Amino acid sequence: MDLRSTGNVDPEDIGSNPSTEPTMGELIERRLGRRAALRGLVGAGAVAALTHELLGSSALAQATGPSTLTFKEVAHGMDKTQHVPEGYEAQVLIRWGDPVVADAPAFDPNNQTAAAQEKQFGYNNDFIGLHPLPLPGPGGGSTTGDRFLMVVNHEYTDPGLMFAGLGSGRDVNLNASKAQVEVEMAAHGGSVIEIAREGGAWKVVGSKYARRLSGNTAFDVSGPAAGHDKLKTSADATGRKVLGMFNNCAGGSTPWGTWLTCEENFNGYFGGNAESMPDAKAYKRYGVTKASWYAWSKYVDRFNVEKEPNEPNRFGWVVEIDPYDPGSTPIKRTALGRFKHEGCTYAMAKDGRVVFYSGDDERFDYVYKFITARPYNPNDRAANKDLMDDGTLYVARFHDDGKTEWLPLVHGQGPLTAENGFSSQADVLIYTRVAADLLKPTPMDRPEDIETNPVNGRVYVMLTNNTSRTEQQVNKPNPVARNAHGHVIEITPKDGDHAATEGTWSIFLVGGRPGIDPGARYHRGVTENGWLSCVDNCTFDSKGRIWIATDGAPTAAGIADGLYGADTAGYGRGLTRCFYQAPTGAEVCGPLIAPDDKTVFLAIQHPGEDAGSTFEKPSTRWPDFKDNMPPRPAVIAIVKKDGGTIGS
Ligand code: FEO
Ligand code: CA
Ligand code: CA
Repeated sequence: MDLRSTGNVDPEDIGSNPSTEPTMGELIERRLGRRAALRGLVGAGAVAALTHELLGSSALAQATGPSTLTFKEVAHGMDKTQHVPEGYEAQVLIRWGDPVVADAPAFDPNNQTAAAQEKQFGYNNDFIGLHPLPLPGPGGGSTTGDRFLMVVNHEYTDPGLMFAGLGSGRDVNLNASKAQVEVEMAAHGGSVIEIAREGGAWKVVGSKYARRLSGNTAFDVSGPAAGHDKLKTSADATGRKVLGMFNNCAGGSTPWGTWLTCEENFNGYFGGNAESMPDAKAYKRYGVTKASWYAWSKYVDRFNVEKEPNEPNRFGWVVEIDPYDPGSTPIKRTALGRFKHEGCTYAMAKDGRVVFYSGDDERFDYVYKFITARPYNPNDRAANKDLMDDGTLYVARFHDDGKTEWLPLVHGQGPLTAENGFSSQADVLIYTRVAADLLKPTPMDRPEDIETNPVNGRVYVMLTNNTSRTEQQVNKPNPVARNAHGHVIEITPKDGDHAATEGTWSIFLVGGRPGIDPGARYHRGVTENGWLSCVDNCTFDSKGRIWIATDGAPTAAGIADGLYGADTAGYGRGLTRCFYQAPTGAEVCGPLIAPDDKTVFLAIQHPGEDAGSTFEKPSTRWPDFKDNMPPRPAVIAIVKKDGGTIGS
């Protein structure tokens, strides 16, 4: 999520870990309005020119070098449209407002209703997952065909770009009308669509599986915290029934073919005087304050903590949804803890238990993993139904000597006792951040996506940036003070077993301009177009090459966000190459390579989210480029024109 167009501090950057204070660097940034200056006053062109001037003085290699990725790199820049390498084409698969369920009305940006939006593709697509049709497994289909269920998160809304008359920036979110808020609630959540490849082109097809989930969908709560008093509200005396999921950023899947979708910045939707409430301290650790980011609490009582003090506790979870069963009730799995879950991806332990990795995206917050108590049963899908309700949650400590240690968040162990305010495992899970603080894990530079390389079994952690880290707070796993461009850590589990509570880690790369930005570290063959800034999401192709999407490069580095590929082994290890450049204002989400390596799916989020950009006068009208159409977040499919393998 990125609401930087306002010139305010990125809400994900605020940081609520009490072990930190605003730094001099942050204060200077706020004082000088650096973000506003970069985006509004100075102008993207000037910043890009400066970038190129600086680069001209550095000795950067120009050739492809030893990378196995041989596509011609996209040149760094920033403009109204997207760019792919020569020989590739980008197909728009589905856009905000396009029909999802059968009777969805056509998109009419000037006459939006909540009822229509509940049936149409939501706003700000983020995570993308693919689930093969038919369902693979014993007697089922293959995983490399031409027909899939695609699941997509809808993270947040940009009222100033969605509706006429509001203006630009984050503050206008608070001016949305009741009817507009209702559209916003319907535009959150997720979509299930069916896609098929015909003649080299992907398209959305009518489907009995098609489904929209929104801020109004009914969710069950399961696991150790279900039914806890702190989850009960006036509308739900059971503490087991929640309306809606919000700010679903990245996600994942399970070995049994369900979709995991993660609630990230849920705090921003709540209003009311949180600071005066009995739970003020816990609210603060989660960033719930009276400074709401949206107008929702003005019109919907449950978003006002003075009226419903427990409602925030019902968000910040990993949600499991079965895309193959459109009538199923999605479930918030409390065993995986409550924090700003960026995503949740799995790897198999040697004994068949399933290990889920998840990052808490906030400055100075932590990296987690959850290990199921029981092994996965590949022969009986139903036997895995509640596997995620029982297991152990761990938080990571990255030692300076290169060792990784996973610390269990188990009630009764160590400091997680009644004397310290934790009278049950439910308490530990509802207040995961507070419990984790007591175990002294390593505060990281905003953990975003975490994924396991299917070839080498190592785990890659995207740490997007953290300009609040001082020189005194620098350590080996977070090696850059005022870290503006982020870095990537590579974790190797002990004996290659993801269930191990020990392992090692190393730095895979440090973002920024090589030779210019402090600490920037890549393969020395990275070109002037191949360096990156603000890593966010990642994925792997079947050769084990990493593909990294960025969010925040325009502000941090004066270049568009994009998608970069790199080898993780061999002579080209760490040699990032620019494959895709987003239209202005957009970040790149949900990178996913189809199982046959012949398509890259990307979720292009918040195109046109620039300073001064409005519904009437957006900075881009991507992807339609029609005068009467606002910019529309959209999922795209990039293929090689000759039908070949992506990247080479
Ligand atoms: Fe929604 Fe951490 O990005
Ligand atoms: Ca993001
Ligand atoms: Ca993200």
